[in-house]
Amino acid sequence: VVTRGQIHRADQLPGLVAVANSEPVGLVTYIIRNGDCEIVTLDSLQAGKGIGSSLVAQVRAIAEDNHCARLWLITTNDNTDALCFYQKIGFELAAIHRGAIVESRKLKPQIPQTGNGGIPIRDEIELEIRTL
Ligand SMILES: CC(C)(COP(=O)(O)OP(=O)(O)OC[C@H]1O[C@@H](n2cnc3c(N)ncnc32)[C@H](O)[C@@H]1OP(=O)(O)O)[C@@H](O)C(=O)NCCC(=O)NCCS
Repeated sequence: VVTRGQIHRADQLPGLVAVANSEPVGLVTYIIRNGDCEIVTLDSLQAGKGIGSSLVAQVRAIAEDNHCARLWLITTNDNTDALCFYQKIGFELAAIHRGAIVESRKLKPQIPQTGNGGIPIRDEIELEIRTL
C-alpha cells in the first residue's frame, strides 16, 4: 500500500482481525509513528454488520492509549463507499492531495487507472479524527 509517498507492507504491520463464528470477517492494519496513528488497510467481508466500525474503534483505542494526536488515513477519490463510511463514523476531511496517485504509480505500477464506478483514480483524500 502506498500512502503519502510511503510504501507500507501491510503483512508486516500490526493489525486486528474481526472474527465471527470462528471465521475471520474483517482486518485492519495500522502504523503508529510521529505521534499519529494511520489506518493503512481496512477490509470488512460482511457489509453493514458493524465490523468496519468496530475495527476502527479498536484502533482508535490503541491510538489513544499511545497518546497519538490523531487517527488518520488515506483513501482514493474513487472510493465513495469509504468516504461515506468514514464520515459516518466520525472522521473529517483533512486534505486532498491532488494527483498523488500519479506519483504512487511510480512506486506501485499495478495501481489501476480506474476504480469504483469507473472513476479515474487520481487523488489521495486524507481523513482524520483528533484523538488528543
Ligand atoms: C468501508 C468498509 C470497511 C465498511 O465496513 P462495514 O463493516 O460495512 O461497516 P459498518 O457495518 O461498521 O458500518 C458503519 C456505518 O457506516 C455506514 N456505511 C458503511 N458503508 C457505507 C456506505 N457505502 N455508504 C453509506 N454509509 C455506509 C453503515 O451503514 C453504518 O451505519 P449505521 O451505524 O448507521 O448502521 C467496507 O465496505 C469495506 O471493506 N470496503 C472495501 C475496502 C475499503 O474500501 N476499505 C477502506 C479503504 S482504506
